[in-house]
Amino acid sequence: MASVTFEGVSKHFGSVKAVHDVSFSISDGEFVCLLGPSGCGKTTTLRLIAGLEQATSGRIDIGDREVTYLNPKDRDIGMVFQDYALYPHMTIADNITYPLKVRGLGAAARRKRAEEVATSLQIANLLDRRPGQISGGQQQRTSVARAVVHKPQVFLFDEPLSNLDAKLRLEARSFLKHLQQELGVTAIYVTHDQAEAMALADRIAVMEGGRVVQMGPPLEVYRQPATTFVANFLGSPPMNLLRVRLELTKQQAMLVGETFRLQLPQISERLKGVVSEGEALIAGLRPEHLHMANDSDSWSIAGEVYAIEPLGPEALVTLKVGDSLVTARIFGDEPPKANVGEKAYLLFEPERLHLFKASGERIP
Ligand SMILES: Nc1ncnc2c1ncn2[C@@H]1O[C@H](COP(=O)(O)OP(=O)(O)OP(=O)(O)O)[C@@H](O)[C@H]1O
Ligand SMILES: [Mg+2]
Repeated sequence: MASVTFEGVSKHFGSVKAVHDVSFSISDGEFVCLLGPSGCGKTTTLRLIAGLEQATSGRIDIGDREVTYLNPKDRDIGMVFQDYALYPHMTIADNITYPLKVRGLGAAARRKRAEEVATSLQIANLLDRRPGQISGGQQQRTSVARAVVHKPQVFLFDEPLSNLDAKLRLEARSFLKHLQQELGVTAIYVTHDQAEAMALADRIAVMEGGRVVQMGPPLEVYRQPATTFVANFLGSPPMNLLRVRLELTKQQAMLVGETFRLQLPQISERLKGVVSEGEALIAGLRPEHLHMANDSDSWSIAGEVYAIEPLGPEALVTLKVGDSLVTARIFGDEPPKANVGEKAYLLFEPERLHLFKASGERIP
């Protein structure tokens, strides 16, 4: 096990800044998820750690060694790729122990180790088959087995669950979480699935355009998103973001939206000196913090029912508010009874309100 540190690391491909000036420090035994949309630099970051790409600038350390210019084979890393990259002509046992063969371990010792690892991953009965003769979930376990077989210092996972169907994906997710807690290894796990990142990570690093825009424990990032990008990326459905204008007088602050005026008594302190009268802001509300009401209230948003989607334990209720859609998660066995086009109100508690500058930056 080892820590992994980036200090001002960049990787540019010509004019493309795949990774740009990234710094972080991942502790020994920590599980970190790199989360972000397609093309934000997640795979490139992993490849830099593995040594499959060389940094344009900056410094990378694993444990107490600088590895910036070290060969991949000298870095002691186990990697699980998105497509598993199993050798189709080799048995599962040979696939799993390939890293040991490269390191010169004999056949009998390899077989013994394959059996050990396969038993812990519940694929011991598949050792003599080939990848084409096992399921996607079993291939994924084989790929994990190969990554753990030589007890590497760091595990890298690049979207290992993306080829699995929804049910298997959830099973495999619990399995990975269990495995990581059992082994206590340092793991860096790439995904663009926010639920996967929330479920697995000790800390999430949210990436946007080659940069890490926020890094912290899942609930901290969820509750205190640093920007509207992060706010919108975590949570399903995502946070509702509404354009508002601030009216400031000596006594009070008022947020004015298309169909609502909200007085901000307690939190006006936090706005003083940070925002100015008339400034355009973005108000953020999580769907689970909104409740339905029949009448207006000082903390409600008025709109017309746009859609009601029953999901079982909850329903998604979307209102059209001016030009925007606002979605609420309404919990309960019975979905709310309302017709499309009917007037409705969504209530919330003032302390649940997030505020951002028009540039997207959070107002603390
Ligand atoms: N070898 C390369 N040559 C040129 N550009 C590259 C190369 N590898 C990656 N890029 C570019 O760098 C950026 C980051 O790519 P990367 O593969 O790291 O994204 P990603 O976050 O893993 O995306 P995805 O979720 O789609 O896998 C992209 O714009 C990509 O086109
Ligand atoms: Mg990728």
